[in-house]
Amino acid sequence: MKVAVIGAGLMGSGIAQTFAQAGYEVKNIDTFKDALAKADENVKKLFEKKVAKGKLTEAQKDEILGRLTYSPRMEDIKGAAVIIEAVPEKIELKKSVFAEIDKLADPEAVIVSNTSGLSISEIAAATNRPNKVMGAHFFYPAPVMKLLELIRGIATDDETYNTMKKMAQKIGKTTVDAPEFPGFIVNRILVPMQNEAAFMVMEGCEPKDVDNAMKLGCNFPMGPLELTDFVGVDIMLGTMKGLYKGFSDSKYRPCPLLENMVKAGYLGKKAGQGFYRYDKDGSIIG
Ligand SMILES: NC(=O)c1ccc[n+]([C@@H]2O[C@H](COP(=O)([O-])OP(=O)(O)OC[C@H]3O[C@@H](n4cnc5c(N)ncnc54)[C@H](O)[C@@H]3O)[C@@H](O)[C@H]2O)c1
Repeated sequence: MKVAVIGAGLMGSGIAQTFAQAGYEVKNIDTFKDALAKADENVKKLFEKKVAKGKLTEAQKDEILGRLTYSPRMEDIKGAAVIIEAVPEKIELKKSVFAEIDKLADPEAVIVSNTSGLSISEIAAATNRPNKVMGAHFFYPAPVMKLLELIRGIATDDETYNTMKKMAQKIGKTTVDAPEFPGFIVNRILVPMQNEAAFMVMEGCEPKDVDNAMKLGCNFPMGPLELTDFVGVDIMLGTMKGLYKGFSDSKYRPCPLLENMVKAGYLGKKAGQGFYRYDKDGSIIG
């Protein structure tokens, strides 16, 4: 069975790798040739490391990489039974990509978006076959993380949903059914907790006290503020704003401290400063 993954960035290249590892013929498509070259190089390096560590034989590596090919042409989705979109999180871009997929994809193809929170029904409405469209939210890094949130749009039919669910099992993922509302399941619970942790810092708590409380009291591997720094204060704030707007509910009010941090460039680990300060190697120094 052939699978097409559109977008060869952080998520798309990992999703393509996941399917190739599970035995599928995968075409990873990206309009930017540099993105394709980078994805190809990263995936090859990763498999070379696996061989060096004795986790894979040279022959197994070649077999997997032989199933994973790259293309800058959308036409190459032809023949794919499942098409997974992983382009940037912008509704107009997703709608234009889905309209193009609609023109080119096989009539029976299942068309999936990896959106983190945009409306599946809205994306599906850009096609003439909204019944064949659904969401499948992978987590980063896609080849490692076990969870896959499955999201049905208003028009998604059972056949589409069941095809994706079976495929998810074949690639070793555990699925949960998530509602088509902002944040799905994980981000709807996780991000307000990070937001609440930011409120506590705004009220005068030390970040390390908040994080230690959650690590030692709840067995969390990482505190909510460390996690916010890790994913990016701006990214986390964007998700919180999506919940606030999507539900029109004041209980999702973003913490004003996060707004100030973003304005100041305190974007977390990537900026060397967030709730903590980081050295060049990314270790916390204060
Ligand atoms: N980054 C994460 O941790 C994460 C986790 C889960 C879901 N997501 C979702 O996955 C999607 C992709 O995110 P990402 O982090 O991989 O983004 P990214 O920016 O790393 O990659 C996006 C890729 O899409 C390509 N692209 C742009 N326009 C295109 C087009 N018209 N046709 C084909 N390719 C195009 C870009 O060249 C780029 O390589 C988003 O919807 C995001 O919300 C991200």
